[in-house]
Amino acid sequence: MTSGTDRPQLVALTGATGYVGGAIARGLAGRGYRLRVLARSPERLPPGIDADVVTGDLLDAGVLDALVAGVDAVVHCAGATRGATQHHFDAVNVTGTLRLAHRVVARGNVPFLLISSLAARVPQVSAYARSKRSAEDLLKRTPGLQWAAMRAPAVYGPGSDELLAVLRWMNRGWFFVPGDIDSRFSLIHEDDVASAVAAWLEHPEFTGPFDVDDQHPDGYSWKEFARIAEEAFARRIRVVQPPGILLDVPAAVSQFWARCWGTRPALTPDKLRQLRFPDWVCDERRFSEQTGWRPAIDIKQGLEGLREQLK
Ligand SMILES: NC(=O)c1ccc[n+]([C@@H]2O[C@H](COP(=O)([O-])OP(=O)(O)OC[C@H]3O[C@@H](n4cnc5c(N)ncnc54)[C@H](OP(=O)(O)O)[C@@H]3O)[C@@H](O)[C@H]2O)c1
Repeated sequence: MTSGTDRPQLVALTGATGYVGGAIARGLAGRGYRLRVLARSPERLPPGIDADVVTGDLLDAGVLDALVAGVDAVVHCAGATRGATQHHFDAVNVTGTLRLAHRVVARGNVPFLLISSLAARVPQVSAYARSKRSAEDLLKRTPGLQWAAMRAPAVYGPGSDELLAVLRWMNRGWFFVPGDIDSRFSLIHEDDVASAVAAWLEHPEFTGPFDVDDQHPDGYSWKEFARIAEEAFARRIRVVQPPGILLDVPAAVSQFWARCWGTRPALTPDKLRQLRFPDWVCDERRFSEQTGWRPAIDIKQGLEGLREQLK
């Protein structure tokens, strides 16, 4: 965790006002890293983190220079996760990432970690997935850049508003499954995303895209997930598969609305395609074998830790 001068590494971090970036900021600060964060709204940074703050937007080259000057590594977690057009996702996830990568190369070329997404493995599934994959492809083609891309599956934990809404229903005994009941997916706790970033900072020679998850073999089906939640919440959960149209119609309406009014909807036809995709299972072995990283939180433990919050 120390730089060449025996001082703690200084890490530039984007996205720390968001869900995943906030967890990474807490995790790195707790491990003694010094942080310099880029924030459009610094008042939304997680409380209690001692960080240099560079105020500004990812699309502003001037602030990017201030962000990366003199750092030992860059962790890029800012991203657009909601939207209704390819342009909206690309502006942040592709153009923003590329601009930051160019500033990193220009200012001394330190290791660069993109918090990508498992969705990048299936770019055709959605505009979001395409943008995450394009960002990875452009990093690969950036001469001289030492980069890696963490393809995280769905991240859960105390800060995950979207998943907490689903878990609240489960804690009341209902689980509405948006797709095929046997579809499989991986998960990772937010604290384990942070520990994986710390492991990469210790092994910046590790390059290219890589998966991380909670090391549950073959992920979970919705059915298995419900069974584990039953144990964690100590109650019976009824698994219901609503007719597709009950989600298709609101998704189409919210996309139409978003295109008219420039809002950023959580539910769109693209988002449904992602949720209904049959195989979102990670293979994290390359990363854990080469860095020694191990996730600390299994799903039952992670869900039990959320029980109080779900009441
Ligand atoms: N959540 C998951 O389950 C999950 C799973 C896999 C991968 N990921 C990846 O993790 C990253 C963060 O996702 P999240 O769920 O934490 O999303 P989030 O809560 O919406 O956070 C997004 C962050 O990006 C920042 N940002 C967006 N556009 C920016 C811009 N133009 N300039 C500067 N900052 C900008 C936001 O800043 P403001 O606060 O100013 O808006 C916020 O800090 C994304 O790249 C996503 O692909 C997330």
